[in-house]
Amino acid sequence: MIELRNDIFWVGHVDWAIRDFHGYLTDRGSSYNAYLVRDEKIALIDTVKAPFARHLLERVKQVVDPARIDYVICNHAEPDHAGGLTEVLRACPRAELVCNAKCRETLRRYQGGADWRVREVADGAELSLGRRRLQFIDTPMAHWPESMFTYLPDEKVLFSMDAFGQHYATAHRFDDEDDLAVILAEAKTYYANILMLYGKQVARVLDRAAGLPIEMIAPSHGVIWRTHGGRIVRAYRDWTVCRPSAKVVIYFDTMWGSTGAMAEALLAGAALPGVTVKLLKARTDHITALAAETLDAACLAVGTPTLNMGMMPEIASGLTYLKGLRPTGKAGLAFGSYGWGKNGPQEVAALLKEMKIESVRDPVLSNYAPDAAVLAECRAAGRLLAERALAGANATPP
Ligand code: FEO
Repeated sequence: MIELRNDIFWVGHVDWAIRDFHGYLTDRGSSYNAYLVRDEKIALIDTVKAPFARHLLERVKQVVDPARIDYVICNHAEPDHAGGLTEVLRACPRAELVCNAKCRETLRRYQGGADWRVREVADGAELSLGRRRLQFIDTPMAHWPESMFTYLPDEKVLFSMDAFGQHYATAHRFDDEDDLAVILAEAKTYYANILMLYGKQVARVLDRAAGLPIEMIAPSHGVIWRTHGGRIVRAYRDWTVCRPSAKVVIYFDTMWGSTGAMAEALLAGAALPGVTVKLLKARTDHITALAAETLDAACLAVGTPTLNMGMMPEIASGLTYLKGLRPTGKAGLAFGSYGWGKNGPQEVAALLKEMKIESVRDPVLSNYAPDAAVLAECRAAGRLLAERALAGANATPP
């Protein structure tokens, strides 16, 4: 049994096998964290995905009889955390479901729950468990409108739901028991793919949490932050503003190698000392990596050949995904090849403009295969991006 503090237990489920989380490539699995607080009253904080509810109940039974649980807190109605509610509440007949009004309505739409006993809590409300109390903090759009944190002030533990989480299956439950570089990388990938478009709202949440004494952050996915909490909070500060590092991302696809050769020439030009360059091919690298790499990049170059008078569908897919996540403060350019029809790179340029990615120059074009002059133009364009990335990173020191 995993105990965070005296009488506070982790009772979630580690999902080693999941590889697709609504389109997000979770190649290191995930976990759905739920927590049990045993006091004069007993509270379960969140549940798990529906198929794993019985595993949660088995863990709970190692601590208490589920029939003795007084409160089941729902911080977030998304089914990876609330999907198990129906089965869990059936096993906890005396429990009240505790959530805010928006969460109640969302749960009703998903699960009905006409027979549930619900205690609605407003932002800032408290619930006494006896020796300790729970406080509820609304955190709209981090991740959904009904999202909230549950805070245990007497223990300085913040149950932060999706915020600060990682899709990471591990045998360990705490940040100081595992490889911190991997945990932080997964936290970054998680932020980029789940929360990037809500940067302003997440920043407000951080401001609010900054006023709380916190010794432990217990998210709903991945490891619990008990040693490196300051590190993840600082990282979130950077991520909420997409703070640029000296990094150029080149995202491309190719049909017969022309746009591929242009991408390689861009890379060669961009590889100045101090500049990180990432080359991602749309049909090889998943959109999850595109989002994660773009989050802290200063520049993004996107290349496509012309297929059926437009960009390649794989590039359109990647850019549609990235557009939805709304990265901010990036510069970039479009490049690519064309034959008898000319519109592929131009379509990319128009989409980058819609995404408010500042164009550093007109699209770099090649009619069929790039000749020496086009490759030289690509190298120069790569250098331009690298110089821009260095300037951008220096303008926004950490
Ligand atoms: Fe992990 Fe927004 O659910």
